[in-house]
Amino acid sequence: MRAANKAFIIALDEGTTNAKAVVLDDKGGVVAKFSRPLAIQTPREGWVEQSGEALIAASLEVIAQAIAHVGAEKVAALAISNQRETAIGWYRQSGRPLSAAITWQCTRSAAYCDALRHENKEQLIKRTTGLPIAPLFSASKMRWLLESVEDGPQQAARGEICLGTIDSWLLWNLTGGDAFCCDYSNAARTQLLNLHSGQWDDDMLALFHIPRAALPEIKPSSGPFGHTRGLAAIPDGIPVMAMVGDSHAALFGHALGELGCVKATYGTGSSVMAPVKSARSDIAALATTIAWHDGDRLVYGLEGNIPHTGDAVAWMADSTGLSELSEAELAHELNSLPTSVESTLGVYFVPALTGLGAPWWDDSARGTICGLSRGVKRAHLIRAALESIAYQIADVVVTMQQHNDFNLSALMVDGGPTRNDWLMQFQADLLGCPVMRSDVPELSAIGAGLLARKALTPGSLADLKACLTLHSEFRPDMARHRHLQKRWQEWREAVNRTLWKPD
Ligand code: G3P
Repeated sequence: MRAANKAFIIALDEGTTNAKAVVLDDKGGVVAKFSRPLAIQTPREGWVEQSGEALIAASLEVIAQAIAHVGAEKVAALAISNQRETAIGWYRQSGRPLSAAITWQCTRSAAYCDALRHENKEQLIKRTTGLPIAPLFSASKMRWLLESVEDGPQQAARGEICLGTIDSWLLWNLTGGDAFCCDYSNAARTQLLNLHSGQWDDDMLALFHIPRAALPEIKPSSGPFGHTRGLAAIPDGIPVMAMVGDSHAALFGHALGELGCVKATYGTGSSVMAPVKSARSDIAALATTIAWHDGDRLVYGLEGNIPHTGDAVAWMADSTGLSELSEAELAHELNSLPTSVESTLGVYFVPALTGLGAPWWDDSARGTICGLSRGVKRAHLIRAALESIAYQIADVVVTMQQHNDFNLSALMVDGGPTRNDWLMQFQADLLGCPVMRSDVPELSAIGAGLLARKALTPGSLADLKACLTLHSEFRPDMARHRHLQKRWQEWREAVNRTLWKPD
């Protein structure tokens, strides 16, 4: 088969709630998609896990369906975009997981993170890895994984245990154990990577008690990574040509990560990310990370993670009796309720349901609804929940601007909640800049697919530009922008009140 006939890339978007395989044509267009839901287990308060085997079974199934859709002979490569920070350990000999994967939302290592803070390790960790101390990142989860099995640290030191992020777990399984690698973007979210050298850092490995022998080799996000081997439903020999964290992939999908681009992915939580010229770790409120390595160069990113955005609306919808509605009915209500009232009647909802992320980073903050009065109805509360998404995103965007030389010409957005037109207009008015919504929901898959395309055809950046997805534009109403500044200030006062902690 001639390479030119191999037109399609299968991009796997392995998220927390779904494994999705997207068939992309040579213009970056979505030809077909196949999805399977993934279960999440919450065995204890604050613990969140997923079965590593179930994650692989779902991923292989959707990849096989996507390959069958176009025919294996037409598939040029696989690309992987994945949920980040989630950590898994497995035995090198058998490939069997040590236990369930500990997902990014899991806070089981919070006490250990507190201990690091008390030992004054915050500065060292931030300077080295670009990340604040938080149970979100993989390092403290990996430590927990090793300590949960007998002789875990010793076995890991002898190279008998592998520790990885989800990209490396997928790759290991896709290649029949041939390849044990991760990409720079995933490595940067572990809190074990030295941001400046691009290597695993000895101080961090010692601090988190992680033997180097247990960790994967770090490679550019734009591959190659290895070939499929030994799988029942997937032919041998298909190259894996890209691996990248999902939020980073979405940024690449928006504008190939051009400087000046700021993107916000709206999901359960949100990630606001902008490419930056160099690694800076002096911005306490934000994380510095590696956006990707495109095969030619390392691109850094500034990121603010917000734990509860779409989740805040889901919580409010549940709490105000909308939980019985179907998905379509709920989407309709969320579009119509906020416009059925003229304001929130002075209500602010700060959804610090498991604490506050960027730019405040306070694990112990708890949610607050301020400004309740007799006339407040469900519509006002739902509107306050939707507004909380926009306020939180805007708080991160302005923090980024304070520290960067770029002018915010537009905010590029993607993810489920961006389908809400009212929310997008409110976001544009609040920030006073256009909001550009991706018309294609599969942006992470597309971003990974573009990185794979670049690996297949080096130097094809100009061609890749033609693949960029279309956007809908929401232009700001500047009179409303001025009016909203007072409200934004009141929101910040409401945020301060979440720092009140009852015994
Ligand atoms: O940082 C966590 C993020 O990568 C999770 O992504 O798509 O599973 O919500 P998603």
